[in-house]
Order: sequence, then C-alpha cells, then structure tokens
Amino acid sequence: MGIVLDLFALPRAERSRTRKLRNAFFSAYLEKNPDASRIEVDLVRDAEKLPAWDEWDVQTKFEMLYGEGNLDEEMAARWNALSRWTDQLHQANLVVISTPMWNLSIPWQMKRWIDAVVQARLTFELSKGEFKGLLGGRPVVLLVSRDGAYPPGSPTAAWDFQVPYLKTILGLMGLGPFHEVIAEPMGLAGPQVAKEALDAAVIKAAELAKTL
Ligand SMILES: Cc1cc2nc3c(=O)[nH]c(=O)nc-3n(C[C@H](O)[C@H](O)[C@H](O)COP(=O)(O)O)c2cc1C
Repeated sequence: MGIVLDLFALPRAERSRTRKLRNAFFSAYLEKNPDASRIEVDLVRDAEKLPAWDEWDVQTKFEMLYGEGNLDEEMAARWNALSRWTDQLHQANLVVISTPMWNLSIPWQMKRWIDAVVQARLTFELSKGEFKGLLGGRPVVLLVSRDGAYPPGSPTAAWDFQVPYLKTILGLMGLGPFHEVIAEPMGLAGPQVAKEALDAAVIKAAELAKTL
C-alpha cells in the first residue's frame, strides 16, 4: 500500500530479462494493492538530469557533509535540484530497483542516481564518524539479472559487486529490509538453463509481490 518508487535502469525494452521481473512484480503487486501509487523513474532516459559531479557539485556535497551548510546561489540551486531525487525516496513506502549486472556491478545510470541521493542531511547523517540513515522503515525489492551466476558460497560470489553493493549503499541511508530476485545465469550456461532460470525468477517476483 502507499507509494511505491519504481526505479529502473533498463536500456532494453521487450528483450530485457530484468524488465520481465519488473513486469511480473508490478502486475502482482498492483493486483493486490490497487490503491497503491507508483512513481516510475526511468534512469536510462533521465540520467542526464542527474548531477554530473563537476567541482561545484563536489564542493556542495562536502559543504553539506563537513561544513556549516553555507551555500552560495549556484550551490543552493544545485542542492535544490538534487533534493528532488531524495524527496522521492522520502515519499516512498516501498522501493523497487530493477537493474542488470554490468561489469560485475551496476549500469552507470544507476550509479549516477546513487551518487545523487546519498547525501548528508537529506538521506543520512554523520555523527561521530557513524552513519545514521534517514530512510528507515522502507523495504527494498532488488530485481536483477546477469549472464553469469554468483551464488553465495560459490567461487564467483566474490565477483558480485552488484547485489551486495546495492544492499550496502542503500542500507547506509537506512533503507531495508531487502528482498531480492536474481535471474541467473542468463547467458553463460546456454539458452535452456537461462529460460528455466528466468521463468523461475518471474514466478518468484510475482510471489514476493503478494507478500509485500
Ligand atoms: C555492458 C554490459 C556489461 C555486462 N557485464 C556483465 C557481467 O559483468 N557479468 C554478468 O554476469 N553479466 C554481464 N552482462 C550481462 C547482463 O547482466 C545480462 O545479459 C542481463 O540479463 C541483461 O539484462 P536485461 O536483459 O534486462 O537487459 C553485461 C551486459 C552488458 C550490456
């Protein structure tokens, strides 16, 4: 119920495996919660609207993190633009993130969003060297796919800088608990294994949606 923030970094349309997980999740979720409102954030389309991190952006971040929060006109304008993205997180009751693995991590468009929203005073506070997240009480659903497989305990688990990274950085802002649906391996073990793994992940995404 409430507001669901639907963040996705999916360059592909109907070919996208991750998008199939997202479609399955939302059709089950909205069937169960018809009054929920969904805020869709297409990070591939809107990536250029996020800060590019020039010297002004970095200076603004550091002033709000380590300084007194004294911003000149240019810095204040940048901070206000950036807070639009963190406002969406504060409004949300549930956050759903749909992303493939790219080079063991996340697509740059998703990283650019993270660089925008992880901000002192807006989404976390730093007190005596400790992070205090300001977004507690918001569960997160991670819907991901990747060509290889990186199951916990396997030799390739240490290569997964996608799911553990997302949990760590989003957790620093207080987000959680985390629920994940991972479609893997989507390429490296051949098409039959990929199809079965994707079908199972689609079912899991729909089942998860009914529990939230
Ligand atoms: C630029 C790029 C880098 C990728 N890097 C990895 C990788 O490091 N490990 C992996 O298992 N798959 C990797 N993949 C494969 C994708 O994660 C996989 O095909 C995924 O299912 C694509 O998601 P989509 O079908 O939603 O587009 C990469 C794909 C692209 C386009």
